[in-house]
Amino acid sequence: MQIYENYSVKEHNTFKMDVCCARFVCVEHPEEVRQLAKQGLFQSEHFILGGGSNVLFTQDYAGTVIHPVFKGMEVMEETDDDVLLRVAAGEEWEHLQQFCLQHQLYGIENLIGIPGLVGSAPVQNIGAYGVEVKDSIARVEGLRTDTLQPFALSNTQCHFGYRDSIFKRELKHKCFITHVIFRLSKREHYTLTYKALNAELDRCGMKPSLQNITDCILRVRNSKLPDISKIGCAGSFFKNPVLTQAEFEQLQQTFPDLVSYPAEEGHVKLSAGQLIEKAGWKGRRNDDAGVYDKQALVLVNYGMATPQEIVSLCQQVIDDVNKLFGVTLAPEVNIL
Ligand code: EPU
Repeated sequence: MQIYENYSVKEHNTFKMDVCCARFVCVEHPEEVRQLAKQGLFQSEHFILGGGSNVLFTQDYAGTVIHPVFKGMEVMEETDDDVLLRVAAGEEWEHLQQFCLQHQLYGIENLIGIPGLVGSAPVQNIGAYGVEVKDSIARVEGLRTDTLQPFALSNTQCHFGYRDSIFKRELKHKCFITHVIFRLSKREHYTLTYKALNAELDRCGMKPSLQNITDCILRVRNSKLPDISKIGCAGSFFKNPVLTQAEFEQLQQTFPDLVSYPAEEGHVKLSAGQLIEKAGWKGRRNDDAGVYDKQALVLVNYGMATPQEIVSLCQQVIDDVNKLFGVTLAPEVNIL
């Protein structure tokens, strides 16, 4: 493992915030997680950082940032229908996507272009274009950092929900995910429920295939989301709010054109981007902290924004959306 003292995490967070942590540990092998545990590291202040694409550091961090870099993909089982693939936490999500494309494995193709590491994917149940990663996860393995016991949770035991899982709730700060086991299909099938994806396939006259879907989604993503190699941001800053059917119907009386999607247990999910746009924030900037002009759900650092400026922008957006719609947006991004 590599250990650095007083280390800037600027290159480890896509918001590009230049803050320091007291200690930064790159974990190069899953066995090192156990060593760190034995040394009592998990009993002191710590934060497990994947690709840093869903985090906003607001100040220097006094504890240890632990960053898995161990990689590996292993086919554990294969039938005529599917493959059970065990992937190490430090593997780039993009690398897994390439593997699936190369080996014609179906299930997560709509999640192409999402930045980050595989170990982070189950934590917030990453999702896009009608697909959530939970639908392809068989099991999540790792080490409990409170009891120092290994764990293996089945899909059901992970309590996946919209941008949610047991790892954000009961197991928050209590585990280190070392591997994610995916069940990926060898049979050709696609999820084509998302209008923008179908529209792009039609526009290009393309038939669905892994390659065509990948290409179309990347084009749709690039037309709406900033290029994180150029503009600091962490993707959607807020979650789409979920209302009861009754709350939604009441709101619809004043705002009949609200975009909505069915959510779990008969609830209704609204588009936070639309609410923010209607509240007048799309494309607005306070100096270098801004609301992205092509997708209002994304807050961006146009260069020199401080974390406090992003936090203050976030609060202004929450307040104005609340005033107009009576709906309180919750950040999706982990604010530290
Ligand atoms: N909309 C607006 N104004 C905006 C943005 C969106 O009116 O500025 C409306 C449009 O009507 C659009 C609808 O909202 O049709 C939905 O927009 P979009 O397809 O861009 O999706 P989203 O709900 O805003 C979610 C995810 C994204 C994911 C996209 C595509 C969340 C929090 N965000 O955004 O995920 O890429 O769907 O599936 O669920 C991320 O999590 O970081 C992320 C980028």
